[in-house]
Amino acid sequence: MTSSIMQGARILSLGSAVPDLRLSNKDISKMVDTSDEWIVTRTGIKERRILTDANKSVVDLAVLASKKALNKISMDPKNIDLIILATSSPNDLFGSASQIQDRIGAKNAAAFDLTAACTGFVLAVITASQFIQNGSYSTILVIGADTLSKWTDWTDRSTCILFGDGAGAAIIQACSKENNGIIGFQINTDGRQSKDLSIGYQESTKADKSTWPSNNNGQFKYIQMNGKEVYKFAISKVPNSILSCINKLNIKIEEIDWIVLHQANQRILDTVAEKLNISSNKMITNLNRYGNTSAASIPLALSEAVELNQIMYNDFIAISGFGAGLTWGTIIIQWKC
Ligand code: UT7
Repeated sequence: MTSSIMQGARILSLGSAVPDLRLSNKDISKMVDTSDEWIVTRTGIKERRILTDANKSVVDLAVLASKKALNKISMDPKNIDLIILATSSPNDLFGSASQIQDRIGAKNAAAFDLTAACTGFVLAVITASQFIQNGSYSTILVIGADTLSKWTDWTDRSTCILFGDGAGAAIIQACSKENNGIIGFQINTDGRQSKDLSIGYQESTKADKSTWPSNNNGQFKYIQMNGKEVYKFAISKVPNSILSCINKLNIKIEEIDWIVLHQANQRILDTVAEKLNISSNKMITNLNRYGNTSAASIPLALSEAVELNQIMYNDFIAISGFGAGLTWGTIIIQWKC
C-alpha cells in the first residue's frame, strides 16, 4: 500500500464524550423483565450512558468529543479540511455534520454524514485516509457518534439492554509515506441480511391514498434486531476480515498488539479472540461501562486506551466494525504518535 500513496495518514489525536446519566442493569430490570445477572452473563454490559435532555442531540456529544481531540493538540479548527460524521442517529435527516462544522468553528472544512451504523467509524476512517493518501486533503476530523437510546423500544428487553449513547472523534493528518499509520483495510456488505438489524421507515396505515402527493405521516420504527443472526454473523465474519487484511500486509497475527472491535457483546469479543488464537489481554474493551454505542464504540475504546498509555509508538492495531447492512470491515493501523 505504501508504494501507491502520495502521502501518509496517521491518527494524531482522539477525544470522546458520553452523557452524564448512567443507566444500570438494575434500573433496566425495573422497566422490563430482565436481571443484572442475565445482562452481564449474556453481554458483559453493566451500565450505559443515556442522553436524556430533549434539547440535546448527537451533535452535542460530537462537538464535545471533537473539541477534546482538537484541544489535546492545540489545533486551530480552521485547519480542518473535511469533517466526516459517522452516525445513524442524526438530528437532521439531511445530515448533522454541517452543524458540527459551525459549532467548532471549522469554517474551512467541507462536512458530510456517513451512515453505516456500527461499521460507520471504520468506514469513515477509511474514507478519510483515501482523501489524505491521494493528496487531496491534509487534515480530517472523523467522528463516530450515536444516540440510539432515542430509537430504542424501551419495552423490548431483547434490544433495550444493549445500547448506550456516546461520541468519539479522531483527527487524521497527512504525514510522510514512511510514517503512514493507516496501512490496510478491508470492507464488506451482505445486503441479504439487511432486515436482521434495522430502523425501518414505516408508511402510515392511515394515509389518504386518494390525494397524492400528500403528507402521509409515516415514521421511522424502533431498532429491530435478530440478535442470534447478528451474533452468528459477527463471530464468523470478523476473524476472517482481520486475517485477510493482515495476510495482505504480510503481518502475522502474533505481531498484532491490540484488537479494537465494535463493542457489541463481550461474548463476541471473547469468541473472536479465541478464533484468532490471541490473548484476551490484547482485546481492548470498555463495553461494561458504555454498552453498545454503535458508531461511537470504537473511537471511545481507542481514545481511552490511548489515554491510559496502553498503545505505544509503532504498535499494530486491528480495528473491526460490524453491524447493520449487514456490513463489516477492518482497518490495520500502525500507531505513529
Ligand atoms: O451493534 C450491532 C451488532 N449487534 C450485535 O452484535 C448483537 C448480537 N447479538 C447479541 O449480542 C445477542 O444475541 C443478545 C445479547 C442480543 C441476546 O443474547 P442470546 O444469548 O442470543 O439470547 P437469545 O436471544 O437467544 O435469548 C435467550 C433467552 C430467550 O428465552 P427462551 O426463548 O430461551 O425462553 C429470550 O426470551 O433469553 C431471553 N431473553 C432475555 N431474558 C432476560 C432475551 N432477552 C432477555 C433479557 N433478559 N434482556
